[in-house]
Amino acid sequence: MQEKKSIHGSWASRWIFILAATGSAVGLGNIWKFPYITGENGGGAFVLVYLICIALVGIPIMIAEVFIGRRARQSPINALMDLAEESGSSKRWGAIGFMGMLSGVLIFSFYSVVAGWVLQYIYSTATGALNGVSSEQAGNLFNELLADPTTLLMWHTIFTIMVVVVVIGGVNAGLERATRIMMPALFILLFVLFGYGMSTDGFAAGWSFMFDFDFGKLTWDAVLVAVGHSFFTLSLGMGSIMAYGSYMPKRASIGSTVLAIGFLDTLVALVAGLAIFPIIFSNGMDPAAGPGLMFISLPVAFGQMAGGQFFGTLFFILIGVAAWTSAISLLEPTVAYLVERVGMKRSSATIALGVVVWAMGILCLGSFNFMSDVSLFGKNVFDFLDYITANIMLPLGGILVAVFAGWVVKQKFSTDEINLKSEALFKLWLFVVKFIAPVAVGVVFVLNL
Ligand code: PFF
Ligand code: NA
Repeated sequence: MQEKKSIHGSWASRWIFILAATGSAVGLGNIWKFPYITGENGGGAFVLVYLICIALVGIPIMIAEVFIGRRARQSPINALMDLAEESGSSKRWGAIGFMGMLSGVLIFSFYSVVAGWVLQYIYSTATGALNGVSSEQAGNLFNELLADPTTLLMWHTIFTIMVVVVVIGGVNAGLERATRIMMPALFILLFVLFGYGMSTDGFAAGWSFMFDFDFGKLTWDAVLVAVGHSFFTLSLGMGSIMAYGSYMPKRASIGSTVLAIGFLDTLVALVAGLAIFPIIFSNGMDPAAGPGLMFISLPVAFGQMAGGQFFGTLFFILIGVAAWTSAISLLEPTVAYLVERVGMKRSSATIALGVVVWAMGILCLGSFNFMSDVSLFGKNVFDFLDYITANIMLPLGGILVAVFAGWVVKQKFSTDEINLKSEALFKLWLFVVKFIAPVAVGVVFVLNL
């Protein structure tokens, strides 16, 4: 049989796929979200549950997404429909892809707002406005930013345009180039911050906050947040990785590639936590400060450190790039689908989608000011979208993909495509996607009702 090709192009090599998928995975989820939800959920036990979810549920589901995409060489909806049909099942499985597109739009709308905060912080650090700030001043500056819809709108708009421009460029020109240099640079800077954290007297407290397990503090809601975050951080459950998988070269081994991506993503999150919590504790700040945690702690550290203005600017630039490469992957499944299905030009599809997510983003940034009294189930629009996407839609999409890969797709397809060296490893994978992942996530869902 001749190998299928995606009409959207393909990655030049396995290495480029790793870069792009890591670019999708590593983002605000690691550096902004992971530390703040760890802080809100009491630390250690939460981190442990998150790590277990990555290994037990996240990695196997990522393997499933990559193989489905690569086998079908199409956008998620069409990939799911085709594989279902070829396996003698209903094309309705494509619905998982629809939910995924919706998740992508909803996530983008708050993701872009946070990325906008990052852009503001690049500017503030570069101009020296954050030099030597105290923790109290840093908190005030962040609150002033949230209270100012015009500034938020400006950055949100700039960020959305940045993403749209790259997505229009397409798989080869746009996505590859955006990922090549930033990953190593981000790692280096994270380690610089980590080194700074080690030099503060809050390091021991930060370390034990993250790694001392106290299960007494763990609620079922916290467990759901950990489960949800393992999907969010690996970009699973909405088709991003599936779409990227459809551009993956045939020769590359899926298992080892996915392990590398999962490992890098987890490493970045843990190092980010180990950089941020020592700063929090050595300055007497509150680990449960919420979404502002990174923005009130890092400026204090950069303000005290030698060369802080330079390192701080560079660091916020790198977080901005990480957010950028992730946001690109939030739009890719929908753009690819519009091109395939409706026959739109890539540029028109991207611009149309860009307008939608930009408009949704205004509702999110308004949560902190002109819409602060709008509440959905007791949360503002920003928190609500963050909560339902990460904790409900992505895990639901993820277990449906697991069920699809384990029960619906002909086993010949998955064996061929995943092509693990050992039979036992394949059996283990199959067992996890058939039983463990759906049951584990299902139980956590039910216990939260
Ligand atoms: N994984 C990204 C992060 O950790 O920042 C966020 C994300 C990107 C989630 C793409 C979902 C997605 F499809
Ligand atoms: Na991530």
